[in-house]
Amino acid sequence: MKPEVAAMVERASGAVRDWAVRAGAVLPEVGFVFGSGLARASEKPPGCLENTRSLPYSAIPGLAACTAPGHRSRLVFGTIHPEGAPPLPAAALLGRHHLYEGRSPDEAAFGVRLLAALGIRRLLLTAAVGAMRPDLRVGDFMAIEDHLNLTGTSPLRGEEPGPEARFPDMTHAWDRGLRAAFRRAADRLGMRVPAGVYAGVLGPQFETPAEIRMLSRIGGDVVGMSVVTEAIAARHAGLRIAGLAFCSNLAAGCGDAPLDADHVNEVAGKAAPRLARLITAAAAEPELQGSA
Ligand code: HPA
Repeated sequence: MKPEVAAMVERASGAVRDWAVRAGAVLPEVGFVFGSGLARASEKPPGCLENTRSLPYSAIPGLAACTAPGHRSRLVFGTIHPEGAPPLPAAALLGRHHLYEGRSPDEAAFGVRLLAALGIRRLLLTAAVGAMRPDLRVGDFMAIEDHLNLTGTSPLRGEEPGPEARFPDMTHAWDRGLRAAFRRAADRLGMRVPAGVYAGVLGPQFETPAEIRMLSRIGGDVVGMSVVTEAIAARHAGLRIAGLAFCSNLAAGCGDAPLDADHVNEVAGKAAPRLARLITAAAAEPELQGSA
């Protein structure tokens, strides 16, 4: 990390640790980022976290409030209670910063770097996406197995050679074991969770049908405006990452419905309880528990 960014992350994590002691919140082992509309999957009910304590981003130095619709700007600590496995302390970022808001890649990665500094080692990134692959349906959660970074930038831009690798290997960026754990949990719940490739674009405009044909031909299965910046920073920080992309709509030209951000949030909000059940079931798996 650039020294000035590292100093800011350090200050933020110090503030959150102090708050956690005062609030009696247990430090997390796993982290979540909940994108558009999906924040309802955090606090119970209908979410997956119990005994929650939360603080607004405004109380965390360096973490700005979100401007995107459906993003709540709170950091929530809590415990997941999976059946047949120990409780799992977790932290969730409700809302993220996007490059399309005019944020720098370092700002877009700040929340994830903060979670890493708080000690999490396993991270689930969630986001609403447009589905491009013909077998994907609105309402599906797709397990991200790889990504295309088409944002034109990286949170590692300007990185100095130092103790951390400047050139992280992204061959296995999306952790196979974590992905398998989420898919096993989905099977147990009778939920369809196909796997595929996330094409990350800058936005904020939705794509044209010609762009969607291009993204599809170059290997994308879903398209979204977040996730990749966080994924790169998370890998650089040594985290194991999984991703669940929620298909809120068919991508431009793949269906007849007009594309609309409010609709994306509404559809995602309705799916959040399903996401919470999936996370709770997955939390029983050894990969989430940290024993595999
Ligand atoms: N395109 C880009 N980002 C998105 C979409 C989409 O169709 N749906 C939700 N996020």
